[in-house]
Amino acid sequence: MLPSVDPQKVASWMQLEHHVNYEMVATLEELFLDDSDRFSHFSLETNDIFFDYSKTHISDKTMFLLRSLGENCELPLAIEQMFSGEKINETENRAVLHTALRNFSGEPVFVDGRDVMPDICAVQEQMRIFTKNLHSGERRGFSGKKIDTFVNIGIGGSDLGPMMVCRALKHYAIDGLKAYFVSNVDGSHLYETLKEVNPETTLFLIVSKTFTTQETMLNAHSARKWFLQFAPEEAVEKHFVAVSTNEKAVREFGIHPDNMFRFWDFVGGRFSLWSAVGLSIACYVGYENFEKLLRGAYLMDKHFRETPLEKNMPVVFALLGILYANFHHLNTEAVLPYDQYLERFPAYLQQAAMESNGKSIDRQGYYAELTTAPIVWGEPGTNGQHSFYQLIHQGTTKVPCIFMAPAIPLNPWDEHHKVLFSNFLAQSQALMKGKTDEEALSELQHQKLPKETIEKLLPYKVFDGDIPSISIIYKQLTPETLGSLIALFEHRIFVQGIIWNIYSFDQFGVELGKQLAMGILPQLSTSPNPSEGGEQRRGEVGRMDASTAGLIRKFKEYRNN
Ligand code: F6P
Repeated sequence: MLPSVDPQKVASWMQLEHHVNYEMVATLEELFLDDSDRFSHFSLETNDIFFDYSKTHISDKTMFLLRSLGENCELPLAIEQMFSGEKINETENRAVLHTALRNFSGEPVFVDGRDVMPDICAVQEQMRIFTKNLHSGERRGFSGKKIDTFVNIGIGGSDLGPMMVCRALKHYAIDGLKAYFVSNVDGSHLYETLKEVNPETTLFLIVSKTFTTQETMLNAHSARKWFLQFAPEEAVEKHFVAVSTNEKAVREFGIHPDNMFRFWDFVGGRFSLWSAVGLSIACYVGYENFEKLLRGAYLMDKHFRETPLEKNMPVVFALLGILYANFHHLNTEAVLPYDQYLERFPAYLQQAAMESNGKSIDRQGYYAELTTAPIVWGEPGTNGQHSFYQLIHQGTTKVPCIFMAPAIPLNPWDEHHKVLFSNFLAQSQALMKGKTDEEALSELQHQKLPKETIEKLLPYKVFDGDIPSISIIYKQLTPETLGSLIALFEHRIFVQGIIWNIYSFDQFGVELGKQLAMGILPQLSTSPNPSEGGEQRRGEVGRMDASTAGLIRKFKEYRNN
């Protein structure tokens, strides 16, 4: 069982409150003036990832107290429990072993007394052979043409992780291969995708842990129907494969078990890109690159498991998040990759962080009287600069920022990269320094504006500054580095869940909307004619809240006219 400690009742929590409110009152700029060594003191490096946290409101004492909080909440024990396969997803009675999927130690990992590594290796071998045959042309479409396109049909963790990685590793993609991801039940997503693909050369990967998810199943059935307009029934097995834990449902869909890639309930949906859910990644960049991704994550796992808290990158990263969420009461966080390849990283992270830690009941079953998951959002730089950075610089909400950028680009235009990187550096600098009244005044005076204009404009030209940020620089976006980066964020989420004393690996919060949608669906199809059951259904609509019932009526009215 996971330890359960109310973090607000431990000594370090109270000490941190006092420390943050009364001792750490210096601004970031003042902290740098006080310590010429601050940058090297508050930065870490591992696996070609450099983590600078010097532009945060911390001192040695802050870090000591934050680590004590981790220790008081028995973090080291919880880390060991996760890696060793204990059922720490207690509300679902499951182990949490995405780390086993990238375990290259050669050591066994046991769940219920059984080593899970042989099963994992067998599926990896199945993926390796499948992708090899696909790329070599040994596995072809029904008309004998080579497969050159795949469509991943899945949603949530069965979409966001693999899609983010495929976008991120586009540079490493197999020549001539096109990848599409269909997730939304909005038919437009599938419809527009199918317009672009050729049924003779397209492979559909139906990815769903449960194989019951409404969106995925409807999209999969529609894709199959579409496919059968061009191909005979027996062609389905060449063009549809499934990734799931639910063999029975896969069979019922009509996919042969030989075309099924298994994974296990100890792999959470939002942590599943390392499993067969990453089949799209292996198809897109080749199995070798997929394995490099796993190896990169493994290196971060080792670092996380073996490094003392003080030098442990995911732990330090997590503690800083807790500092701002719980002691500075900033309930939001921006993730800003200065890397176009990481375009979908914020979207992926939103699920990983907010579906994991967006909880309000603690591990004792009581209401958690503290901020759990801050709202995560972001966009790649420099695009975001021309969009929402105004709010970050001069708005009334303080937003801690996480900047990310590679040192070496994957495109040949180094000139672009230097411009990009200068913006990356300038933003965190601007957030810290701000612009004082005097600086703003002097700038306006230089423009030789009339005195009244200067007086009027001055307050709008001032930046308060002192906004915290973390800067992550990585050498280059390789599959290994990406693996390490993703694992860094995954472990951060885990550490925060442990300290917030919540269960990070269930997602009951997504159930209610699904249940209600099931109830509403039949109402949308009913006829207003009583002889067709309309009267009775109108009664059901009548029992709904007035807004929902009114919206249903309006929906029908628009469609009937
Ligand atoms: O939205 C809830 C959720 O269960 C996610 O956790 C999961 O990633 C997603 O739905 C998809 O589920 P499945 O892979 O079972 O289709």
